[in-house]
Amino acid sequence: MCEYCGCQERDVIAELTAEHDRLRDLARSLNAAVNAADLAAAGRLAEQMHAVLGPHTEVEESALFPALAADFADQLAQLVAEHRDIDAVLCELASGQPQTGWRLRTQLALAHLFDHILKEQDGVFPAALATLTTADWDTLSAARDRAHRATRTRPSAALSPA
Ligand SMILES: [Fe+2]
Repeated sequence: MCEYCGCQERDVIAELTAEHDRLRDLARSLNAAVNAADLAAAGRLAEQMHAVLGPHTEVEESALFPALAADFADQLAQLVAEHRDIDAVLCELASGQPQTGWRLRTQLALAHLFDHILKEQDGVFPAALATLTTADWDTLSAARDRAHRATRTRPSAALSPA
């Protein structure tokens, strides 16, 4: 785990990791709601996860991944695709009217989410610590500030994919 490589000493990485922890907590609750076939609770939890994922993926995709793209383009493209797949399932659930098979799709998406988080924490974050320049870290901090400002000012209207 990246606790050993020192990447957690970077504020941005520590924050992304804390968001992963929050997502895992919500995902466990969502899994319980799915097992209970409680669509209302599942929708609320999906909304909460979407709210965390929006700025989180914005920071990763606008600043962290581009800084690593020269060395890990294929792996990062896969992570971006996973962001879209997971968020699509959350948006469908949050709509309150998911298509038939929503329970299985959600369980699969949550399994992918846990795997995705491990790939970022065991691969992307340590690679960032070893690779990013001071300018890259500044870009990452600016992206984080932008994403959080946008979240504070965004109207809480209908959900749309991140
Ligand atoms: Fe990610």
